[in-house]
Amino acid sequence: MPAVYIETYGCQMNVADTELILGTLGAHGYRRVDSPEVADVILLNTCAIREHAEQRVLGRLGALARHKQRAGVKLGVTGCMAQHLRDRLRERAPQVDLLVGPDGYRHLPALLADDTDPHLGLRLDAGETYADLPVTREKSVRALVSIMRGCDRFCTFCIVPFVRGRERCLPGPAIVEQTRAAADAGAREVVLLGQTVNAYRHDGWDFARLLRAVAAVPGIARVRFTSPHPAEMSEGVIDAMAEVPAIAPQLHLPVQSGSDRILVRMARDYDLAGYEVLVERVRSRIPDVALSTDVIVGFPGETADDYEATVSLMERVRYDSAFLFKYSARSGTRADKLDDDVPEAEKAERLTRLIELQERTSAAANRALVGTDVEVLVEGPARRQAGWMAGKTPQMKTTVFSGHASVGELVRVRIEASSAHTLRGSRA
Ligand code: 5AD
Ligand code: SF4
Repeated sequence: MPAVYIETYGCQMNVADTELILGTLGAHGYRRVDSPEVADVILLNTCAIREHAEQRVLGRLGALARHKQRAGVKLGVTGCMAQHLRDRLRERAPQVDLLVGPDGYRHLPALLADDTDPHLGLRLDAGETYADLPVTREKSVRALVSIMRGCDRFCTFCIVPFVRGRERCLPGPAIVEQTRAAADAGAREVVLLGQTVNAYRHDGWDFARLLRAVAAVPGIARVRFTSPHPAEMSEGVIDAMAEVPAIAPQLHLPVQSGSDRILVRMARDYDLAGYEVLVERVRSRIPDVALSTDVIVGFPGETADDYEATVSLMERVRYDSAFLFKYSARSGTRADKLDDDVPEAEKAERLTRLIELQERTSAAANRALVGTDVEVLVEGPARRQAGWMAGKTPQMKTTVFSGHASVGELVRVRIEASSAHTLRGSRA
């Protein structure tokens, strides 16, 4: 049996794609190994969202090249970076044998056997959903389920529509079936994944219907989803979140900027007033909801005033957590044609201030939970505290606690201490 070793970079969609790659290769006689030393095939499943993500992979490819001294070992790059750089990647990393983009995984076994046209690995295929291929899920209380692929939105900064192609959705019944199979294998939580997950639509199903159907699968205690687009956030989805206990009170609402001028340049399709009305509506319908966001600082043309507008938005909304990024120009996107005119040092300063603000906000939100009881879905032993267990609250807050509990159990924990990123307590 040939052995495959795979490393995953980037978002949860890529983690799910790795499980798909392993499922497909598994069906063709490959077994997974945990070390490149003993692998016949070494794969890096990559991200292209920012320059930094690609630099890391180039560095890693340099380090992995030595394994090719063993006869027959193949080194492959899969995912968004393979699709983005294509032959330029071969020039920069000649040790790479195989390039397979997000729509090419079906062909991996044939590509590895040198049994097909190598270009098949990089062909975008608007009909490809992989709905019929096996998935080898990590044994975990949390199952990732891709419900759609690609993106049609073309935000001007984003590479995803170019590397993942047009939006296409899996059939509702297939998604429910995958959830059922994951629950049978021990999952208690499911995370529905898509680039604009709440734009899901297939054969009479919309996202609200899908959420309710998945939440009704026996054994599934919590349903989450990522990432929704603010402009696609329907009343039906908010209703489902408010009414169905198993749909977790947690919402990631990427805002990207707090300035209307920049939102237009990003082609985000909402304005600040609309976004804040949405936040209010969500909070009034789901009072215990935790909100998170993504923000890009230093987008081309972002002035000090635009940036201050973002700061003040974050002060008003008070997100529970936020992913904060410096703008990174991506070749092929519309923003790449704009002048990347915010100096690197200025971007770094804007980012640092936002991080400090968010740390304070997250810490205060968590501090407010000290003395309360929370429900934790137990995931396993705490990483840094021997004998303690760890899991997440419905709001997705990491909680470590003392006392006995089994993996997959829902327990009540009394919170005794907190930091910006963790709650600590003991079984109530
Ligand atoms: N530069 C910086 N951040 C980006 N993101 C997407 N494209 C870029 C880019 N070119 C961020 C957005 C998105 C998140 C997944 O990554 O905030 O929501
Ligand atoms: Fe995921 Fe986007 Fe990175 Fe691709 S580019 S792996 S879709 S975060």
